[in-house]
Amino acid sequence: MGDIIAALDVGTTKICAMIAEVEGEEEMAILGVGHVPSRGVKRGTVVNVQEVTAAIGEAVAQAERTANIRVANAYVSLSGHHVESMPSQGAVTLSPRGTRSVTLDDVARALENARAKPLPHNREVVQTLPRMFKVDDQDGIREPLGMEGFRLEVDALVITASTVAVQNLVKCVRANGIEIDGLVLQGVASGMAVLTPEERELGVAVIDIGGGTTDVAIFLEGSPWHVFSVPVAGYHLTQDVAIGLRMPLTMAEELKIRYGHAQPKWVSPDENVGIEGFGDESRRTISRHFLSQILEARAEEILDLAWRGIKASGYDGLLPAGVVLTGGSAQLAGFRDLARERLQVPVRIGHVPNVQGLTEEYRTPAYATVLGLLIWGAKHPDILSYSPLSSDSRGRGDDALGRFGEWLRRLLP
Ligand SMILES: Nc1ncnc2c1ncn2[C@@H]1O[C@H](COP(=O)(O)OP(=O)(O)OP(=O)(O)O)[C@@H](O)[C@H]1O
Ligand SMILES: [Mg+2]
Repeated sequence: MGDIIAALDVGTTKICAMIAEVEGEEEMAILGVGHVPSRGVKRGTVVNVQEVTAAIGEAVAQAERTANIRVANAYVSLSGHHVESMPSQGAVTLSPRGTRSVTLDDVARALENARAKPLPHNREVVQTLPRMFKVDDQDGIREPLGMEGFRLEVDALVITASTVAVQNLVKCVRANGIEIDGLVLQGVASGMAVLTPEERELGVAVIDIGGGTTDVAIFLEGSPWHVFSVPVAGYHLTQDVAIGLRMPLTMAEELKIRYGHAQPKWVSPDENVGIEGFGDESRRTISRHFLSQILEARAEEILDLAWRGIKASGYDGLLPAGVVLTGGSAQLAGFRDLARERLQVPVRIGHVPNVQGLTEEYRTPAYATVLGLLIWGAKHPDILSYSPLSSDSRGRGDDALGRFGEWLRRLLP
């Protein structure tokens, strides 16, 4: 029997738990899934602890019943406009006299040094991810273990978030008796599920358009290079339809999913959709072209906000693999072509991989994050994704370091 890993995606639309058995890095089998409509989450952030705690409990209980396994730890997704990432350098002396070879402990110390930068009191570090290492004068090293030198430097990506937002999320998870293996950015998790290793190597941006947030992660040289989150997504598309066509949100949501299109130019101006009226209204007819015009305006805004963030990072010129759209809203008809035309880069829709035990219902881009959390958990050690809140209890034991070494070794070409 392999290791058991659990993942919990706390989204704005749905809260989803998955339990998997992993054998090495490649083999994964889904043992249980549970999902409930989200409550108490707004734009990716917990706004009602009681509601989110209860919803997590239900999703986890469903997954536990199918898997017949009790979840004690899980990788948990984090999102929200408050998330920021910044490059940071860390360095440690290996030996004041003569050279010696780099050990795992040195790598951990270098990462610790990279994350130990002053932060405002209301922010904290959630992930410190190594991008590249340098031993003495030799840079561009991915695998520093065993190299000889006087000094080890790391170029890391430090991801920070609002302390209050992190604490509320952690509270909701722990209230269900679940310890956090790691908090992983939604965009980073989705990227693990829908991007190919070649894309991550070349340079690519994954844009996960969910319900309340659009999470962007840029991958370069195989690692997350920059992440951010935009507080506009599918919910806003629905809301615009509800306002533009004067109807309740539930009806607008259904109309969007069944008849929506992000490019009015592909919808005939004569095409009408008959829908039930609401209140004392009789049946009414809606122009699909008009519906599409409403959706296009918001879809363009989402793409523009994502692209603005990518440009601001300065990495927009380093994305030969272009953009991969995922998340529930990536299923809106015409979204990919709209993105291609607007961003002028290659665009594809990122589908979730075909994992053993994953039923048809979950093979949609809406489940990219939760699957990506499992893949992240299978590939990465705790040391790369622990939250300071849980680090004291989990520590950085030999086991974590051992897995870290394994992870570094796997980075070797
Ligand atoms: N076929 C479809 N066409 C258009 N939109 C769709 C379709 N299916 C689902 N959506 C939209 O996808 C959104 C939900 O996506 P997803 O499940 O990825 O969100 P989430 O992870 O819960 O939220 P977030 O990541 O923003 O916190 C909803 O707004 C829904 O309307
Ligand atoms: Mg999501």
